Parts: sequence; structure tokens; C-alpha cells
Amino acid sequence: MKDLRAQFPAVHQKVNGSPLVYLDSAATSLKPQKVIDVLTEFYSRETANVHRGAHFLSDRATQKFEKARESIQKFINAESPNEIVFTKGTTEGLNLLAQCWGRRFLRAGDEIILSEMEHHSNIVPWQMLAEEIKIKINFIKVTDSGELDFAHFQTLLSERVKLVSITHCSNTLGTLNDVKKFIFEAQRFGAKTVIDAAQSVTFQKIDVQYLDCDFLVFSGHKLYGPYGVGVLYGREEILNQMPPYQGGGAMIAQVTKDGTTYLNAPQRFEAGTPNISGVIGLGAAVEFSNSLNLTKVLAHERELLERATEQLKSFSDVRIIGESPSRVNILSFVIAGQHPADIGQILDQQGVAVRVGHHCNQPLMKRFGIAGTVRISFGVYNTVEDVDILIRALKKAQELLS
Ligand code: ALA
Repeated sequence: MKDLRAQFPAVHQKVNGSPLVYLDSAATSLKPQKVIDVLTEFYSRETANVHRGAHFLSDRATQKFEKARESIQKFINAESPNEIVFTKGTTEGLNLLAQCWGRRFLRAGDEIILSEMEHHSNIVPWQMLAEEIKIKINFIKVTDSGELDFAHFQTLLSERVKLVSITHCSNTLGTLNDVKKFIFEAQRFGAKTVIDAAQSVTFQKIDVQYLDCDFLVFSGHKLYGPYGVGVLYGREEILNQMPPYQGGGAMIAQVTKDGTTYLNAPQRFEAGTPNISGVIGLGAAVEFSNSLNLTKVLAHERELLERATEQLKSFSDVRIIGESPSRVNILSFVIAGQHPADIGQILDQQGVAVRVGHHCNQPLMKRFGIAGTVRISFGVYNTVEDVDILIRALKKAQELLS
């Protein structure tokens, strides 16, 4: 993993006078030099619009843009590049689904199922829709150990349920859900399925045909790629039944004064000039991810997680939030009597970057009776030393706060 670490320029810097220990990859990953180079090259010499120009630069940009789509298709084993819609990120993918799929296919009285461990981006778009069309939203309960309660899920299923939308990996608990089991069960009732793969895509091979989900979303920036770009995967036949929710250039078949006809997916959902550099950079990030041995990455990140968990348990008054054996690279905890924000600040003073707060998971916080946690999360660049520095920095925080 040392060679990998060398590829990330951001780890080689000091923050507040100490070498940076970056433990916030669940919020966003650092970027490898290869991705940075691709972005620099695009902005330096390759800039042009796509799908429009009659010139060399535009042709080349279009080819690179569409090549990235094909790389992503292969990366998640989609059947066709037409099933890869470029978005701003996971949040936009879920909003697009709520607006385009939800408005087209849901009616008052229908039900959808989410879970208590969903990120707000997989709750709020559905609640906004529910205000308009009076659908009912049910939430799968989370067990004390931080897992989805499958038996409870089964009690929520009925013919009224039209959609099940759940996360593959919790951004707070780190639980990696056996989503295939949930998809299979949802399908028995004819419900469509959405998987939020924003966290899992970084360490887990995603195969949409194996999962057999109808939709899957993820972002570029957690996958060692650029900001403002992400992917909505959808089965082609469903995408083509969904009306677009943004109109403009590049998504139309024909426009007259009387109306417009749309191109098929994915173009119908990609109105306007897209995030061209972002998409090409995401292609480079996918190449980077393809170059990783994910079995090794998984084992490495698990080793760090176990080391951190074990050492944290030696602190008095520590409560780890979520202890599923499936956790890979995310660990949340609280220390009695100490505010997560105060701990985060003292860690930051020592160069250790973590996230504190509710992590866009307020219903989950309520479920565990807490306001927030300190969350540490690992990427391919983290080392055993990072964990040891964290623990030392935490000891200092405890001294200062007690
Ligand atoms: N969803 C990101 C996180 O969990 C931002 O931190």
C-alpha cells in the first residue's frame, strides 16, 4: 500500500504544524496524481464542448467523454453505456429518480421503503415527493449492532410497495448491507430497487447485473475522482419510460413551437453542457480503481478498522456506534461527557482530520439517542501509523477535555 500512498500528493503535507493524518475519506477521498494530471491536461490543452463541435478538439473531447461512459459501464457491469447517466453526484441521482421515476410511476397511497440508516439524500427527495403526491414512506429499522433489520423489512413489504431505496454501506456505521437479499425480497412484491453505492463503490466490486437492482447511484469524489460528477445507473427500458426533469440542449430529438420530443437515455437526462472535465476525470478515477487489488484494499482497510476499534475500546466511556462484523472502513464513536465537535477540533490541532456531527443521518442519530459522533474513515493511503497517531491525539483530547 506504500506505493499507493506515494500517488497521493495531499498526504505529504503538514496541517497545523503536524503531518496530515487524513481520516475523512467517507466525506471525500484524496485524489491520486493520475486523476489530477488528467484534469490539468484537459483544462490546459483539451478544453472543448462535447456532442456539438465540428472541430478536432470537440471530437476528441466527445470521444474521451463517451469513453469514460463505457469505462463506467464496464466498471459496474451494466449491460449498455445507455444505462449510465452522468449527474452531479449521488444526491442529484436520487433527486432525479424521485422527480422522474417517482412522478411517472407513483400514485397517492403507494408506499416506498427506505431505512433508518439512509443519508438525508436518500430521504429528503422522497419526502419532497410525498408532500406532493401523498405516498407513504416506511423505514426499515436498524438493530442495536447497526444492521438493517431484515425481519422488520419483511413486515413492511406488500403489493402497495413500489420502491425500496437503501444504502449499500452506511456512511456513519460502516455497515455493509447484504443488499442482494433485500433486492430479491423486494422483487417478490414487484417493487423497484435503488442502491446508494456512494461509500461501497470505493472498496467493493459493484456488479449491477449480479445485484439485479433497477437503479444504483454513486459520486466521483469519494471514488478518488473529481467533484460535481456522479453516476445514475438505471435499466435502459425504465430510463426510457421516465420523462426528463431538466430541458435544454443536447437532450432533444426535435423542438418546434408546439412542443419537444426527447432523445433516449442517457442523453434525455443530460441537458446542457455537462461536467466534461469531471466525467473524463471520473474515467481516470475508475481506471485508478481498476488498478487496485480490491481484496487487498478491503483487507488493509479492515485491518485499520480493527486496530482503531480495539484501541478505542481501551478508552473509558467510549461507545462505538454500530458494530456490525461487515464494517470495512468507517468507524463512529462517542465519548461520554465530551462533545464530538470539541474532540474534532483538538484532533485537527494535531493534524488529524475527522468528521464530527450527524453526518447527514439525523434519523439514525435519533435511533441511537445521540446528537452526533466522531467519525473516522479510511482510504487506500492510510497506514497503521495513522491509527496510532489518531489514538495518541485522542488521548490528548481526553486530557484536555476532562
Ligand atoms: N456523505 C458524505 C459523508 O458522509 C459527505 O461525509
